[in-house]
Amino acid sequence: VDKNAVENILRPLDLSDDDYHTVMQSMLDQMERGLGAATNDTAPIKMYPTYVRAVPDGTESGEFLALDLGGTNFRVLLVTLKGQEVKMDSKIFLIPQHIMLGSGKHLFDHIAECIYRFVKEHNLMERKLPLGFTFSFPCRQKGLARAMLTTWTKGFKCEGVEGHDIVALLHEAITRRGDLNVECLAVINDTVGALMSCAHTDRKCAVGIILGTGSNACYIEKLEKVEMAEGNEPGPPEMLINTEWGAFGDDGSLDFITTDFDRQVDKHSINAGKQRYEKFISGMYMGEIVRLALEKLRKNGLLFGGEGSYHMATRGRFYTKYVSEVESDDTDSFPMTKQIFQELEIETVTDQDCRLVRHVCALVSRRAAFLSSAGVACILNKMKRPEVTVAVDGSLYRFHPHFHDLMMEKTRVLAPGIRYKFMLSEDGSGKGAALVAAVANRILAEQK
Ligand code: BG6
Ligand code: GLC
Repeated sequence: VDKNAVENILRPLDLSDDDYHTVMQSMLDQMERGLGAATNDTAPIKMYPTYVRAVPDGTESGEFLALDLGGTNFRVLLVTLKGQEVKMDSKIFLIPQHIMLGSGKHLFDHIAECIYRFVKEHNLMERKLPLGFTFSFPCRQKGLARAMLTTWTKGFKCEGVEGHDIVALLHEAITRRGDLNVECLAVINDTVGALMSCAHTDRKCAVGIILGTGSNACYIEKLEKVEMAEGNEPGPPEMLINTEWGAFGDDGSLDFITTDFDRQVDKHSINAGKQRYEKFISGMYMGEIVRLALEKLRKNGLLFGGEGSYHMATRGRFYTKYVSEVESDDTDSFPMTKQIFQELEIETVTDQDCRLVRHVCALVSRRAAFLSSAGVACILNKMKRPEVTVAVDGSLYRFHPHFHDLMMEKTRVLAPGIRYKFMLSEDGSGKGAALVAAVANRILAEQK
């Protein structure tokens, strides 16, 4: 193959440390604007107050229901907290595509129905259970249990939910049924769940990030900097901020690193122009970036001898999990890579093709991991704590063979002098929601 021609097509995917520093500077700038009451309106990074003030202290106890909506799976959980001990029972329910893109009423009726089936199966009908809701979308909160969805992200687009309080919508659906005894006490983002769940065992945990279907981060901010929060409940002088960093770049500030592949991904998404940073990074889009790059190489006769297929020409068909599989493959004989392309009905795949495919996957993954590191480093530098544990969750981070190492390597360069570690959060959305609901429940009981 013509090395130069390949290089010319792929070069835009390779960014320099200067680029990453520019990204960080602009992210910092947008985060500060998001925090300020006078500038929040026009800031793409919204920095939403979460009303979560204290991280758990290990004394939380009780039985809670939790909902987990917005990742790969929708789940209902029963979480039992007893100090450091956490027991969890969960069930995955499907949300069919027509509900994801249907009416909000239909969505919440479906959620209420799933709660009903779960509660029934677990013989909990007689009990009044507090519920914590992990709702992984941008919400403007007015309290722990008041959360207005600002805009759907990822694959959801249900009518009549944006601008509305999702706790009210859930309670309305529960009332419509009339056979459930459940009260939602708190709504949290999945980043908050990850942070809370790690903080339960690691006191240094102060940042939570998600690298999954979407990407986002939260961190602990000084209360005096949180100008957008309402009310002043007593509590520690801190609040978790849900950054919604996925929207970084929606004002054009990442155009300087945007390639033709990224532009196409964005253009054909259901939220064109939105979540630009997330579209460089997360699992919902990475496979598609790779597919577009492979197709370009192929059309130029540089891959598969120019042979295409129906599948390879289909948007969204090259899944992000393939990227992880290709990069985990044995580099002598490429068994998995060959199997993937057999499934995709490419007839002749040489070892040289496999090497090039792997190179493309590695470039796209590396850019995603380094951009995530730039985000983490930006937050670490801003927080100025000497030592921080970063809680991480999401399928991309979990299943990719090098994402963790790549992030360790680049964060060191971009946040020099700070000691950090990345800790995989186990079931943050269930445990985190229960922990926050437990705190809310305690406060409720104290007020009575
Ligand atoms: C999971 C959580 O572990 O991670 C979800 O339970 C969360 O709530 C998810 O949204 C993020 O990853 P993914 O890959 O499922 O989007
Ligand atoms: C999207 C959502 C955000 C969530 C992230 C990870 O960016 O807007 O709320 O945290 O995906 O699931």
